[in-house]
Amino acid sequence: MSLDKYSLKMPKAVYSGKDSLNRIPGIIHANGFTKIAAFTDKSLRKLGLFDLVEKRIEDTGLPYEIFDDLPAEPTYMAVQAVIDQFKTTGCDVIVACGGGSVMDAAKLASVLVTDEYGVKDLLDDPLQARKCVPVIMIPTTAGTGAECTPNAIVGVPERELKIGIVNDNLIADFVILDAELIRNLPRSIAAATGVDALCHAIECYTSNKSNPFSDMFALEAFDLIMNSIEKACDDPSALNEKNRMQIAAFYAGAAITASGTTAVHALSYPLGGKYHIAHGVSNAMLLIPVMKFNEPACREKFVEAWDRAYHGEETLNTPEEKSQALIAWMERIVKHLEIPTDLKQFGVDPADLDSLVEAGMSVQRLLVNNMREVTPEDARKIYQEVLK
Ligand SMILES: NC(=O)c1ccc[n+]([C@@H]2O[C@H](COP(=O)([O-])OP(=O)(O)OC[C@H]3O[C@@H](n4cnc5c(N)ncnc54)[C@H](O)[C@@H]3O)[C@@H](O)[C@H]2O)c1
Ligand SMILES: [Zn+2]
Repeated sequence: MSLDKYSLKMPKAVYSGKDSLNRIPGIIHANGFTKIAAFTDKSLRKLGLFDLVEKRIEDTGLPYEIFDDLPAEPTYMAVQAVIDQFKTTGCDVIVACGGGSVMDAAKLASVLVTDEYGVKDLLDDPLQARKCVPVIMIPTTAGTGAECTPNAIVGVPERELKIGIVNDNLIADFVILDAELIRNLPRSIAAATGVDALCHAIECYTSNKSNPFSDMFALEAFDLIMNSIEKACDDPSALNEKNRMQIAAFYAGAAITASGTTAVHALSYPLGGKYHIAHGVSNAMLLIPVMKFNEPACREKFVEAWDRAYHGEETLNTPEEKSQALIAWMERIVKHLEIPTDLKQFGVDPADLDSLVEAGMSVQRLLVNNMREVTPEDARKIYQEVLK
């Protein structure tokens, strides 16, 4: 443990389990809210998923407006455009129903009912944001943990990067984790978003910023994910495993809040920003190469993670055996889930390596958390692993 100061910040209340969506009217009335802004996206409306939430919003008897003009993994301009529609409506609570993209936009809206600054200004100075409107988060993917973190991530096309805006005022107020919302999540999205949560757990556990608070959430999330992700993705009726993934994603978000992700997320940002590879997919690609690179520096932590999560019969004795077995297990999971692991199929050319390395190395906010120092040469080798 390298830090002697650490903290735990959380939403005010988290509801989960059967029919937890029914909590919506109670939360709204108990807090005296009078007009509701519902954030979602068009495909969730088309799928009828948002209807589950809208029904409970109708049950409140209060006026509401829907904001669904949000593309997946939006740029800061797309988020600002939705906020500009929202901020004149007088809504005093936001209900966000969606994946990380919708939740991040809702979080930014919650601090931007003002003309003093916009999303672009927060990219330069995130700490100026103050909470204006409380948020109820209802994730429809089990991955990002955005319902728990103080982060909002937006695309910045002029820098060909995705950038995280971090401010404690972005932490949601209420969270509802209802497995009905991820029951029909397509396997490929469940897999990529689930591996994103896996990355959050193992990166935070092996981060230079790890501490007793983050370790508690990161290890529990890791155990839950390693033992639930395959069934949750493969079997649409596995509601228990799906609920475990929701809880794990939330815990992994708590681990991010108390600690921080490392080189997987750092090197993944340019893949999202420049090549528009989905966040979970680019993390899944980099997870194993980065874990192999990190192994010598993180062995002790990998052994602890193995001891905590592995409940099988195999007996391993040496730290190196356990550490290698842990990486091999994660590799089997990524393979089983059939997440693409080759950058070439996304149009990345080996000639792009220089610019990728430069962009990845610019994410020092996260690279400094990595237990093994990452040099530009190391970053190049890691990218080369997925550009074969
Ligand atoms: N704020 C944070 O702490 C944090 C952490 C990690 C990632 N992120 C960000 O979150 C975004 C990614 O979020 P995501 O991985 O949840 O995906 P997403 O929100 O981008 O959604 C991906 C696609 O899945 C669809 N979808 C979502 N839920 C569905 C469901 N239940 N059934 C069918 N389709 C569904 C969406 O409509 C969308 O088309 C990225 O921008 C990433 O950078 C934020
Ligand atoms: Zn992530």
